[in-house]
Parts: sequence; C-alpha cells; structure tokens
Amino acid sequence: EAEADDHAPPALIAHRGLSAHAPENTLAAVQAAHEAGCGWVELDVQLLGDGTPVIWHDSGLKRCAGVGGRLSRLDLAAARRLDAGRWFSPAFAGEGMATLDEMLALIERLGMGLNLEIKVGRGRDAEALVAAALPPTLQRLPSERLIVSSFDIRALRALRGMQPDARRLRLGLLYDRAPRTWLAQAEALDAYSLHVDWHRLKPALARSIAASPYRLLCYTVNERNVYQRLRAWGVDGAISDDPLRLDPEYARLAS
Ligand code: G3P
Ligand code: MG
Repeated sequence: EAEADDHAPPALIAHRGLSAHAPENTLAAVQAAHEAGCGWVELDVQLLGDGTPVIWHDSGLKRCAGVGGRLSRLDLAAARRLDAGRWFSPAFAGEGMATLDEMLALIERLGMGLNLEIKVGRGRDAEALVAAALPPTLQRLPSERLIVSSFDIRALRALRGMQPDARRLRLGLLYDRAPRTWLAQAEALDAYSLHVDWHRLKPALARSIAASPYRLLCYTVNERNVYQRLRAWGVDGAISDDPLRLDPEYARLAS
C-alpha cells in the first residue's frame, strides 16, 4: 500500500454523493452521504454554456433532468429551472442542479472531503473548466480534504500548472484501464492517486500500483465480495454508490 498518510481519504467514498439513495450529484446526495456517515464524496464538475461550473455527470440533460438538450447550451438562469431530483424519486422533486459554489459551501459546512472529478466532455475546453473550477475549490477546502481527478490528461496538466505543489493539490489519474505507462504518467504529473475501473483491474497490476507511492482507488464498487477481493489485492479504497452496502461497520467507524 501507499506510504502511511495521515491525511489519506477514507477507504470508501460516496460516488456522485450517496447516489444509491438520493439523486446523483445533488446537494441532497451529499447531505445523504453525510447523514449515512460517509466523510467523502466524489462529484463531477462541468461548465454551463455561460461558464458557470456545475455539478453534473452527463453531457445531456435527459437522464437526470428529463428534458432534451445539452448542458453546454444552458445558461445559469435556464439551469435553475431544471428539476434534477424527480427522475430519481418524487420524494426529491424540486431538487435543483447545484453550482460548484453551492456544493463547495455545503461540503465546507459539513466538514466533508471531496474527490472532484473534472469531467471534460467531447470537444470541450479542458483548460477553461480547470480555470473556473480550481480557484473556488482551493479557496473553500483544505488540501487534506480534496483530491481532484480526471480522465483528461490536458485537464490534469493544467491543474498541476496552476498548482505545482503536490502537497497543496492532490491529483488523481482516472483510467478505464491503467496503461503500461501508468508509473511514468503518475511521476510526470506528481500525482497522488490512480482511480481505475475495477472491472478491468487484474491482481498483478493492482499489486504493483499498491506497492508504488501512489494510492489506488477503484470505481464503481457496489458489491461486498468485489470490495473484499480488491482490498486483498492491496487496493486502498473504493468509490461506491452505496458505501454502507460494502461495509456495514463503516457508518459506525466513521462517526
Ligand atoms: O471518479 C470515478 C468515476 O466517477 C468515474 O466515472 O462516469 O462515474 O464519472 P463516472
Ligand atoms: Mg465521476
């Protein structure tokens, strides 16, 4: 495993908030994670057409807001009219799309940790997203309660360019499958962690990453037997829609 790290995130991080029990990437999902005893959440950030950073996973609006169109065509006034909760359950009707600023204020108030995923849509400007998302995040959250990750290497390089001190900004390399060059990439970026899809992770690779200075997280782990197997391979932690399903002791330990 990675070297002893007093400020390491907990082994379980709630994916898009507690997305098994509340509409993903909303304030309600983060509140639910907190109430369940999860100290950390993973959330996706993107830009609206007017440059406002918001917490949203898809490039489109259909799945989580029930309307046609693309996020990149909205301005904030139009985004405010969307319902981002009703698709999940009528109990969450009226839950809005959160801006990054609103979400950071909640996370700060709750004293939680954040894995912010910089979600660069196809054809979208990685540097503009980083320039809009990083300053307010660094302003609100202490470095030990933040990991910023991305699949997009341009975004990661821009983040490191804006904040060269790896103790001040911990970066996570996101992979569907870690490439053979993972170690060189992690070194070049001065990364903190690798976040990989568990479906494609083999034990030999897990063990070599776990033996490196970089932490290894897997997404999206929702079954207890999978989680236990990954931990036995040396995986440091998992990003899960429902952390309590993986470890029923978790809430008690976290509180
Ligand atoms: O950050 C881990 C995971 O969220 C990456 O995939 O599609 O759920 O954002 P996705
Ligand atoms: Mg994500």
